[in-house]
Amino acid sequence: MALKTPDYRVLFVCLGNICRSPTAEGVFRTLLADSALRERVGIDSAGTGAYHEGSPPDKRSQAAALKRGYDLSLQRARQVRDEDFEQFDYILAMDNSNLHDLQRRCPPALHRKLGLFLRYAPELGMTTVPDPYNGGKAGFEQVLDLIEAASKGLIQHLEAQASEA
Ligand code: 4NP
Repeated sequence: MALKTPDYRVLFVCLGNICRSPTAEGVFRTLLADSALRERVGIDSAGTGAYHEGSPPDKRSQAAALKRGYDLSLQRARQVRDEDFEQFDYILAMDNSNLHDLQRRCPPALHRKLGLFLRYAPELGMTTVPDPYNGGKAGFEQVLDLIEAASKGLIQHLEAQASEA
């Protein structure tokens, strides 16, 4: 049986694809499971850099996520590819550096697909997900807090889009 093509395709992007964007992929996938849209959204994550290509998520990200019920263990890091700009509808960066890197690579006609993930959680009063890599445990908890809020906002946005379609 052929797989159904998803109606919405979302790519989460950070620098290494081992901390923030795999967390976003895992949290968003888990929270989406409670939505009527669960079979209509394609989800992936990638890094602007290639340093960690093929690696599982950072152990600190995995541990913090698992405590909240999100299993990141099967994910593997990959770098953003040129085809991603065609294939995904929402390409959501964790911080401004990631966004600028994407803007440099993305064909101008597709720039409308690019944005900051936290635009879906304006109530946070923050626009970017800070890189936790060189910090302590609190940074990984903050990443999860921000990503949970933005994931809920993105699900609401997609549900509103679907109801208009
Ligand atoms: P991420 O975190 O972009 O959230 O995956 C980082 C992981 C690794 C590095 C930087 C950020 N690094 O420089 O190796």
